[in-house]
Amino acid sequence: MSDKLHVNYILPNGETVTVEANEGDDLLSLAHRNKIALEGACEGSLACSTCHVIVDKSFYNKLEEPVEEEEDMLDYAFGLTTTSRLGCQIIMSKELDGITVRLPKETRNMQLEKMV
Ligand code: FES
Repeated sequence: MSDKLHVNYILPNGETVTVEANEGDDLLSLAHRNKIALEGACEGSLACSTCHVIVDKSFYNKLEEPVEEEEDMLDYAFGLTTTSRLGCQIIMSKELDGITVRLPKETRNMQLEKMV
C-alpha cells in the first residue's frame, strides 16, 4: 500500500484535481509542484493573502489553529469564508489525507507593504 497522502484541489472553473502529497508538504508548494495556479505572492511568509483557499468543512477542524499573522492576512482575502485558510500554512499530515480545498475565483493581489 502506498503511504502517499492525497489532496483534492477544486479549481476556479469547478474542475477537481487530485494530487499526491507527502507528510509535511504545504498546500501552496504542493499546488505549484503540480502546476495548479494558486498564487503565493510572498512565498509562504505570511505577508499576503493570495494563497487563500477554502477548506472543506469536514477537514477544517482538523487543521492547526491559525496563528495571529494568518488571521490578520485572511482579513484581506477576497471572498473570505468561515473555512478560509492560507494554503501555505496548511501542512499535510496523515490526518489530512483526502482533504479538499477550493481555490477562490478571485484573489486580491496585494502584499502587506502596500496595505500599511
Ligand atoms: Fe503569502 Fe501564503 S503565500 S501568505
